[in-house]
Amino acid sequence: MAKIDKTAAKERIGFLKRELERHNYNYYVLNAPAISDFEFDLLMGELQGLEKMYPEFATEDSPTRHVGSDLSAASGSDFVQVPHRYPMLSLGNTYAKEELYEFDNRIRKAVSVPYSFSCELKFDGTAICLTYRNGRLLRALTRGDGTKGDDVTRNVVNIPAIPRTLHGEGIPEEFEIRGEIYMPWAAFERLNAERTASEQEPFANPRNAASGSLKLQNPEEMRTRGLDCVLYHVLGENLPFKTHIEALEAARSWGLPVSEYSSHAYDIDGAVAYIEEWDTRRKTLPFATDGIVIKVNELELQRQLGFTAKSPRWATAWKFKPEQALTPLLSVDYQVGRTGAVTPVANLEPVLLSGTVVKRASLHNKDQMDLLDIHIGDYVYVEKGGEIIPKITGVELSKRPAGAARPVFPACCPDCGTPLVRDEDEARHYCPNREACPVQIKGRFIHFAGRKAMDILAGEATVDALYAKGWIRTLPDLYTLTREQLISLDGWQEKSADNFLDSLEASKRVPFERVLYALGIRHIGEQTAKMLARHFGSIDALAEASREDLVQIEDIGGTVADSIRAYFDSEAGRDTVRRLREAGLQMAVDADARQQLSDTLAGKTIVISGNFSISREAMKALIEAHGGKNAGSVSGKTSWLLAGEKAGPEKLKKAEKLGIPVISEEEFHRITGGEA
Ligand code: IVH
Repeated sequence: MAKIDKTAAKERIGFLKRELERHNYNYYVLNAPAISDFEFDLLMGELQGLEKMYPEFATEDSPTRHVGSDLSAASGSDFVQVPHRYPMLSLGNTYAKEELYEFDNRIRKAVSVPYSFSCELKFDGTAICLTYRNGRLLRALTRGDGTKGDDVTRNVVNIPAIPRTLHGEGIPEEFEIRGEIYMPWAAFERLNAERTASEQEPFANPRNAASGSLKLQNPEEMRTRGLDCVLYHVLGENLPFKTHIEALEAARSWGLPVSEYSSHAYDIDGAVAYIEEWDTRRKTLPFATDGIVIKVNELELQRQLGFTAKSPRWATAWKFKPEQALTPLLSVDYQVGRTGAVTPVANLEPVLLSGTVVKRASLHNKDQMDLLDIHIGDYVYVEKGGEIIPKITGVELSKRPAGAARPVFPACCPDCGTPLVRDEDEARHYCPNREACPVQIKGRFIHFAGRKAMDILAGEATVDALYAKGWIRTLPDLYTLTREQLISLDGWQEKSADNFLDSLEASKRVPFERVLYALGIRHIGEQTAKMLARHFGSIDALAEASREDLVQIEDIGGTVADSIRAYFDSEAGRDTVRRLREAGLQMAVDADARQQLSDTLAGKTIVISGNFSISREAMKALIEAHGGKNAGSVSGKTSWLLAGEKAGPEKLKKAEKLGIPVISEEEFHRITGGEA
């Protein structure tokens, strides 16, 4: 590291500390990193170097000494924070092979007996700590700030890979097992495609998607996210194992998910060979990895080596450098989406990156373009960060052609010419001409007709043709199309017209939740529509809900609530709903579909609190299926408080004060005749 004088070092250290804290927050809390891991590690490395040079400026609170915190209480979640029994640390990391040999030398100096390494994939997900007691899953905590984590048990029980009960020999009475919750590529791509279709910001990479999903307030939605888990660290008091690998093999035999890709290396050269092998092989894996972890295998030696403030001395991580390509930027297109959002897309000189030719890359929004200070003709770095389209991560200033100019972000919609607007709290520009902007209108029809929405036989070409004729402007117009009109279209025959009309007819039986999704209300994706349909039961009840009512619902934030209100407060929105209802579409949940199991709970108002063997949503549905009513808070009108694991102490106190019976989940199932 170059020498730097004391005043400059002090200033730079202050800057790096603030920057790293900000990036930690973006990464762990918002799940929206602004820089790559590699850039983050560079900043961290610089800070470590400066603190070594000037130890007087190395304060206790430096990000070099604590792990980034994922605690989400600050962002309004209701996860309970629970202290970790053993601190949950991070790993030292390196991108340089010499440092691996230095790691090995440090170990050799510290211990006087032979040792070996466990070599493992570094799964790119979010860390989880599971506690099992008497063979049953007791609790799941996130890493949090390393000393306490968010209790996400109610979500984790919805991950199929994580067993709730263990089977086999020698299961300790109580132990912890740590690992990673991750989202396989296939699930990640599916989720991002859904998010893009409903104009929600896609997740930057599977890691952010996994940790965002784990923190969802609605466990049922979480179940649809396809999360997986791998466990790599067993902890506890007086455990009988001598080596790390032995402990993991035992865990595997009890039914816990342990990596099948690990290997035992007898020295550092063996570990380096493993790294070299997986540097290419990892590209064939169905999930993301960001490196290799090398751990001393002998547990007694791990104890002797101990920890620094932030990481174990007995383990280190080799990080893979993201693959990059450098290529000239030819031009920038501005694409208008279905809801009017304008996305800048870079056209690049085609270049080979990780086996595919890249021609286009997303520039996200105007802020991102400004941040990169991008000019037409610039050589730009492109990276595949796990996104569907690659992204531009930097500009090679030394190659900037003379006279290169910045691309001009349009002031008006490239499609209809309306001046663009920008919402205060969003980075995107929008075309506000919802009613008349052709791209937006056509996009609304394509979304409406989609397979997950109304499933009507109308793809892009059909929508274009019907629009060009002037026959479709608002969604209900579809239901006024006649056979004669359709047959008159270029290339259409009686058969295609009939098929189209049949699909329109069939769409009248599509359940309400899909109709709600099909309307294309901004920020209402498939899952949110499902949840709202279940919650309100009908479009009229939803249309009447105030912003306050809406934000009370789990996973509905201010932005979504505002968007729902804006839709039903607009004449166009109300008119669309009225005419679609007249056309015969389902505007309420089919009462028959809501299976009635019994009327055992008729006249009972029940408040639920805590966690159950089924999700809270499912519990509420079960109460209704037995004729009962759900209420949110305990009052004189409450019949029972149904208390699950970790029921809210306030609710319990209030029930006791008012003399309201508190029943357990088992009692509930006994009363309703269900299984406990
Ligand atoms: S061992 C005491 N093994 O990487 C440290 N961590 O950057 C125990 N990770 O916090 C961690 N795969 O979330 C370990 N095979 C593996 C891992 C792994 C992924 C994560 C973990 C850790 C982070 C450090």
